[in-house]
Amino acid sequence: MPSSPLPDGHAATLVLDQLTLDRRDGDGRSFSILAIPALTLEPGTSLGVSGPSGSGKSSLLHLVAGLITPSAGRVSWGDTVVSALAEGERDRWRRRTIGFVFQDFHLVPELDVAANIALPASFSSWRLDAVDRRRALDLAEQMGLADPRRRAAVLSRGEQQRVAIARALFGKPALLLADEPTASLDAARSEAIGALLVEAATRCGASLICASHDAALLARMDRRLDLTPTPAKHAT
Ligand SMILES: Nc1ncnc2c1ncn2[C@@H]1O[C@H](COP(=O)(O)OP(=O)(O)OP(=O)(O)O)[C@@H](O)[C@H]1O
Ligand SMILES: [Mg+2]
Repeated sequence: MPSSPLPDGHAATLVLDQLTLDRRDGDGRSFSILAIPALTLEPGTSLGVSGPSGSGKSSLLHLVAGLITPSAGRVSWGDTVVSALAEGERDRWRRRTIGFVFQDFHLVPELDVAANIALPASFSSWRLDAVDRRRALDLAEQMGLADPRRRAAVLSRGEQQRVAIARALFGKPALLLADEPTASLDAARSEAIGALLVEAATRCGASLICASHDAALLARMDRRLDLTPTPAKHAT
């Protein structure tokens, strides 16, 4: 029987330890984007990250996914110190572990809905097998995407967002990271997608981190991390 080329990620505890991210501005001075002294997220737990625009929500998700490396401190997933892995190792760890809903979707406009959802599989095999194709079609249906053959280029922003979420779920990730996953949706659709994200994470025992301004979505999360710069950044 054909099997998915993506092995399922393994549940683990996420630990951020003395994590800082600094950047240099135009005149070369260093400024702080993020400073998180300590955060532990148990397997299967959800965390809502809030804070105003520019407070570092996307940067935090990119750090956790190993897409960028911290200026100091570490990101660990179980026994793996992700922030210390060489780039190739980090890429492999990410493919095994993470489902990422990017703030700006990162769809391939020329590909149809189903092909975009199954994109993670096409990185390791040039042709989709029947199991992957079926899984992509099922996810499209769950997301209310009626026509899996429409090209991403012609989709509305809300439809693109739902494709991005389905793609993040495709690899049955152990850690689902969603950057403002309801930002382009109307209130009813936001409710439905919020419920679906939490349900999908629960079903596969995945941990979930959502960066959002959406109070209803944040209320669904087990825990909250507020990145508002003042008076204090704190986790509850
Ligand atoms: N590569 C970079 N170089 C310099 N500054 C950066 C870089 N990446 C992010 N920043 C800055 O870091 C800060 C945090 O950005 P980030 O995108 O993480 O915020 P955010 O909370 O996700 O905002 P939004 O709600 O608008 O999505 C911003 O001031 C941004 O300009
Ligand atoms: Mg952002």
